[in-house]
Amino acid sequence: MTTTEGTEALRTRVATRLADARARSVALTDAVDDDDLVRQHSRLMSPLVWDLAHIGNQEELWLVRDVGGREPVRCDIDNLYDAFQHPRADRPALPLLDPTEARHYVREVRDKVLDVLDRSPLEGRRLEADGFAFGMIVQHEQQHDETMLATHQLRSGPPVLTAEPPPPGLAPAAAEVFVPAGSFTMGTSLDPWALDNERPAHEVHVDAFHLDTTPVTNAAYAAFVDGGGYDDPRWWSDTGWAYRQKANLTAPRFWLRDGAGWLRDRFGVIEPIPPDEPVVHVCFHEALAYATWAGRRLPTEPEWEKAARYDPATGRSRRFPWGDEDPGPEHANLGQRHLSPAPVGAYPAGVSPSGVHQLIGDVWEWLDTGFTGYPGFEAFPYREYSEVFFGGDYKMLRGGSFGTDPAASRSTFRNWDHPIRRQIFAGFRCARDADPGERA
Ligand SMILES: [Fe+2]
Repeated sequence: MTTTEGTEALRTRVATRLADARARSVALTDAVDDDDLVRQHSRLMSPLVWDLAHIGNQEELWLVRDVGGREPVRCDIDNLYDAFQHPRADRPALPLLDPTEARHYVREVRDKVLDVLDRSPLEGRRLEADGFAFGMIVQHEQQHDETMLATHQLRSGPPVLTAEPPPPGLAPAAAEVFVPAGSFTMGTSLDPWALDNERPAHEVHVDAFHLDTTPVTNAAYAAFVDGGGYDDPRWWSDTGWAYRQKANLTAPRFWLRDGAGWLRDRFGVIEPIPPDEPVVHVCFHEALAYATWAGRRLPTEPEWEKAARYDPATGRSRRFPWGDEDPGPEHANLGQRHLSPAPVGAYPAGVSPSGVHQLIGDVWEWLDTGFTGYPGFEAFPYREYSEVFFGGDYKMLRGGSFGTDPAASRSTFRNWDHPIRRQIFAGFRCARDADPGERA
């Protein structure tokens, strides 16, 4: 994406991204019957039909009413689909639109939005400049699509989703890379569709550190599990151990004991666990316990972003580990093209200048940093997107997963969640401090 793109090219790209997001929402909701759509598969998640109408409602609020200045389509349902009014656990009890009504509603909104898009100058006031509001809504729909994919992982019953298996990988020779001390530009002031919490660009000094070349694999994590890692409080933080006891954690979520080994449940398919894929469905506490057991630690958010953006040859921060161009299938496992992470080393074209693999795609990576605004943060276009979460019980997640669309992926994109969450497509990689002689 560049700001020099012509207005008509931008309009076409917005329309394509809107259509891509809608095709995915439709596929995720058409995959199951109406009973399944209205059912709550987990108290952690909304019924799929809530997500669908909520996607339409946000689109109506921002694009039909605000950008378009049009009459409301259904202002009577705003409250039902306001995520701040109703926790997920309570949503099935609401008088929600039924699946037929929800499908009709999102189509009606979208028809109006395409008309608004045709007439918007895509410049002028900040909400419309560079198509920001449209980009925000595309990202919102894609983020809910990833949430709906996580709901699919939680639902019981026969498999309904299919996709090609990921490409094979060849584990890189080096287990870790060294990142020298120095400052880099974190965040962005230029990416037109970057959200408020990614802004503004600012300089951050990062001490020298070592970072794993790849995310921690299932095989590596199984050694922790099988070595008694879940039974030894030495490896866990106090909070993490208390949660491990309370929730009776014994392995990553969706791992199933099979004699001396393990199987996994992946979207309803019970299968052997591929040893060379990044581990997924672990919470922050499990990631931290593994890192401590391995004599390492989790990276911080500035460390992760420096590894994912900083180009030592030019001193510049790029949009992605591989450069500035948008992600293609050769760069990263994004966009639900596959229904699992890819083996480590599967994306040599996506490697960072310092040799770090798979920073983008495959699994969100837990980081040992809480959620705050960058220096100079300014809420836009509403406080509830980011600011109300600052300082809460959250840990940062970076890089996106196999379920994250490229439209909601870049090396500045910030995600956050409670440190106990395991239903999201999250894994991690480890880091360690530089040795004293390396801290130049
Ligand atoms: Fe939402």
